[in-house]
Amino acid sequence: MKIQFLGHSCFYVEEGTFKALIDPFITNNPQADGSPADFNDLTHIFVTHGHGDHLGDAVEIAKSTGATIITNYEIACFLGTKGVTAHPMHIGGRTKFDFGTVKMTTALHGSGIETAEGLICGGNPCGFVIEVNGKKLYHAGDTGLTMDMKLLEVEHIDLACIPIGGNFTMDIEDATYAVHFIQPKKVIPMHYNTFPVIEADPTIFKEKVQTSEVIILKPNEIHTI
Ligand code: NI
Ligand code: MN
Repeated sequence: MKIQFLGHSCFYVEEGTFKALIDPFITNNPQADGSPADFNDLTHIFVTHGHGDHLGDAVEIAKSTGATIITNYEIACFLGTKGVTAHPMHIGGRTKFDFGTVKMTTALHGSGIETAEGLICGGNPCGFVIEVNGKKLYHAGDTGLTMDMKLLEVEHIDLACIPIGGNFTMDIEDATYAVHFIQPKKVIPMHYNTFPVIEADPTIFKEKVQTSEVIILKPNEIHTI
């Protein structure tokens, strides 16, 4: 499974014919130097919650590629009015797709969708456990530290993408607790240094985490599991 960090919480994931973006925040992402048009053969897009730095370019990319957006019920309904295909799930649900399985996990955060007409309710925010060809990826979305993360230990996660930037999500200290709860083989820190309010030093996170291998990716770098 090939995982490319695109800055902030945006990742491109490829395994065989499965080609997906998670939280496709590319336009206006100071860490992403590409454009939505760079992604022309996606099969799926995952959206953890309605905030602009996660929903991002999902509609535009889904329209140009025909990719199915996997997200919560409320955001799926919103996307249905935009003429794209969305598969609704909800917290705790696991679903079999042609590429593998997806479980929607809890996240403690907001999910309002910013529109010209004001904020629309985007349901509960979430994270995803995505399993393809026996490889398991966990993307936490935006979240504070929760005891629920202890439940993820039984998933035997190969790679966890965890926010460390503080202010809107866990900071380094809480993210370290999260890793100890989840016990993934590897961790990629995310959601930091995009904006001044979420500045964090990932090397401090790497020093603190003793039980999992921390992989610090610069935007556009690829890690394979
Ligand atoms: Ni958010
Ligand atoms: Mn965010």
